[in-house]
Amino acid sequence: MEIFDTTTFIPPFALDIDLETGAMPDATNHLVRNASAMKGHYADSAAFDALVANGDPLHYEVFEKPVPEEYGHLMYCISKLQPGKVGDEFFMTKGHYHTVVQTGEIYLALAGEGFMLMKTQDGQFHYERMQRGRMVYVPPYWAHRSVNTGSEPLISFCVYPGDGGHNYGDIETEGFPGRVFEKNGEIVIE
Ligand code: PA5
Ligand code: NI
Repeated sequence: MEIFDTTTFIPPFALDIDLETGAMPDATNHLVRNASAMKGHYADSAAFDALVANGDPLHYEVFEKPVPEEYGHLMYCISKLQPGKVGDEFFMTKGHYHTVVQTGEIYLALAGEGFMLMKTQDGQFHYERMQRGRMVYVPPYWAHRSVNTGSEPLISFCVYPGDGGHNYGDIETEGFPGRVFEKNGEIVIE
């Protein structure tokens, strides 16, 4: 068998994922972002500062048992986004493009409810509902951010090419063209 010489050869493996809670006991990487990691991302900066001053709660976590970050491998993760709001705006992830911008991603929602917001560098915007059993296909070139509109954690399983990387790019300065709020008891995207 010929092995593509820039792709590391590893033995096959398997692991367990609890499809209700997202628990992945074999995960060795655990990324934790508390609210303070989201500075500049929410519309209501006074509400954001108050949330951080008031205990800087857990915002979201990512669990991985990493594979080589190389062409040919498939990175995967469990993402767990807490419920809550900053002012009227629902908790969300930072969001990113992939460093290799021609990198797509699959998200399968396992628990909770919310949205995947997606945008392109030239200003296109699209969103999809996330709920248990619903898969969102994030095509190459689309930045993506998940938003939790429910009262339980929004948990999803993601898969993307190992060499894709993360580029927070203009999201930190420009954000997304749409935000998700609760207004008069309704979920609105504006
Ligand atoms: O590549 C992905 O989309 C995930 O691994 C995310 O990085 C993860 O959900 C955390 O989101 P973010 O990188 O926007 O903080
Ligand atoms: Ni991604």
